[in-house]
Amino acid sequence: MNLIFRKARILVVEDEKIIAKDIESTIKRIGHESAGTVSKGEDAIRVAGECHPDLILMDITLKGEIDGIEAARIINETLKTPIVYITAHQDEDTIEKTKGTNPYGYITKPLDDRDLNTAINSAMYRFDVENRLKAAEDKYFRLSENAADMIFSQDTAKLNYRYVNASSFRITGYTPEEYYEKPGLLDNLVHHEWKEQYMFSKQQVLKSSITLPFEFKIVHKSGREVWLNQRSVVVKNSKNEPDTIEAIVTDVTERKIYEVKLEETTQKLRALSNYLQRVREEERLYIAREIHDQLGQDLTVLKMDLSMLGKSSAKTAKEKNIPELDKVCLELKEMSGSIDGIINKVRKIATELRPDILDKLGLAEAIEWHAGEFEKRSGIKCITKVLEEEIQLKPEKAISIFRIFQETLTNAARHSGATELKIEVAEKNGWLILHVADNGRGITEAEMEKGSSLGILGMKERVLILGGIWKMTGEKGKGTSIDVRIPLR
Ligand SMILES: Nc1ncnc2c1ncn2[C@@H]1O[C@H](COP(=O)(O)OP(=O)(O)OP(=O)(O)O)[C@@H](O)[C@H]1O
Ligand SMILES: [Mg+2]
Repeated sequence: MNLIFRKARILVVEDEKIIAKDIESTIKRIGHESAGTVSKGEDAIRVAGECHPDLILMDITLKGEIDGIEAARIINETLKTPIVYITAHQDEDTIEKTKGTNPYGYITKPLDDRDLNTAINSAMYRFDVENRLKAAEDKYFRLSENAADMIFSQDTAKLNYRYVNASSFRITGYTPEEYYEKPGLLDNLVHHEWKEQYMFSKQQVLKSSITLPFEFKIVHKSGREVWLNQRSVVVKNSKNEPDTIEAIVTDVTERKIYEVKLEETTQKLRALSNYLQRVREEERLYIAREIHDQLGQDLTVLKMDLSMLGKSSAKTAKEKNIPELDKVCLELKEMSGSIDGIINKVRKIATELRPDILDKLGLAEAIEWHAGEFEKRSGIKCITKVLEEEIQLKPEKAISIFRIFQETLTNAARHSGATELKIEVAEKNGWLILHVADNGRGITEAEMEKGSSLGILGMKERVLILGGIWKMTGEKGKGTSIDVRIPLR
C-alpha cells in the first residue's frame, strides 16, 4: 500500500507514449490525479500555464525543439510548480545542468511504484514547507519594514549589517544602504560622552546573551543629538560562539527631555523645600528664644514685683491694722502661684518649638529626652539605646534628624497601635544611623506611597537633602521599622 502525503494533480512530460501512459496509470493507482501527458517541451509550457498542475514529472530528453531542462526553466519564470525530473540513467553532467532550475527531485527509468510515490511525496512536502517558510519570512519582513523602531542584525565580529529596516533613516538619518556600506555605522554614531558606556553594555550583551536594554545618545546625520533605547539579543553560531546581534532601537529623545526637565523641577522643589524648612526652623528658634527669654523674664519680673507688693501690703496691713489688705495679700499669693504655672507653660511651648537640649547637649541626648517625654504622654514603652559619646553634627543636620524622629514617634502613636518602641542611634563607618521599630500592626506598601499624607514624604525629602539613605518596612501584625542613614561628612 502506498501512503500519500497529499493528493496532487500531476502533469507528465514524456516523449515515449507507452512510458507516459504507464506513469499516468501508476500515478492514479497510487492515489493521485493526472493533469494529462504531453510529449514536447513546448506543450509542457502551454499545458502547465493552462491547467496549473500541482507537480510536473519532466523527462529531460524530449523530441521537440526544447528539452526538459529548458522547458522547466521557462515554466519557473511564470509558475511556482515543483518539477521532478525523470532521467534515463544517472548522468551526472545532465543532473548538473538541471540544478539552475530548482529541481524538487529525480526518478530514474524504469519507474518503480514506490520510488515514484516517494519522489512525489517528498517534492510535495518540500514545496509546502518552503511555501510556509516563505509566508512566515514575508510576514516578519513586512512587520519589520513597517515598524516605527529601527531593527537591525549585525555580525558581531566584522560589525557589518546583515539587515537594517527603513526606520533607520528616520531615527539616525542614515538609509539601510548606508548601513550596508559602512560596517559598525551605528557604533560610530554614539555620542563621545556615551562611547565607553555603550561599549561596556555591548560587551555585557555579548557575554550574557540575554536581552539587556540600554540607553545612550547618538549624533543624528543632521547633527542633532538623539537618545536611543536599544534591546539586543545575541544569536550564536553552531560552535556556540556569538555570531549576530539582533536589536530593536527606539528613539526616546522626547521622553529623555521630559525626564531631564522633571529632574530639574524636582531639584528646584527640593531646594525650595529645604529653604522653607530652614526658614521654619530659624523662625521656630527665634520664637522659642523670644518666648523663653523675653516672656519668661517678664513673667519672672512680674512675679518678683507681685511678691514685693505682697510683702509691703502685709506690712501695711499689720502696721495700720487693715483687715481687707490681708485678703488682697492672699490673692497676690495666688496670682504668684498662677504666674509660676504660666512660666512652666511658656517653657514647655518654647521647648516644643525648639528643644534647646538639642543645641546644648546634642542629638543623642535630645532623642533620649524626647523618647522619655513621649513615653510619659503616650504610654508606649520606649527602649532607647543611644551613643555614649556625642557626635559632631551641623545644627541643620541635627534638627533635621530630630524632626524625622519626632514624626516617626507621632506616626507610631497615631497609626501603629504599638505597645513598645525600640530606638537606636549609632555611628558606623562615617554614617549616623537612626533605627526605630514599633511592634504595631505594620505599615503597608500602599500606605507608604499614599500621596495625600506628607509625614513620610517629608521624612524622605529631609533624608535626600542630607544625602542619606531611607528605608521603611512594615510586616503585617509584627510592626513597622524605619532605618535612616546620614553621612557624617
Ligand atoms: N508606624 C506606623 N504603623 C502603621 N502605619 C503607619 C505607621 N506610620 C505611618 N503609617 C501609615 O502610613 C500613612 C502615611 O503616614 P504619613 O506620616 O505620611 O501621614 P499621616 O501621619 O497620615 O499624616 P501627616 O501628613 O500628618 O503625617 C499613615 O496614614 C498610616 O496609615
Ligand atoms: Mg504622619
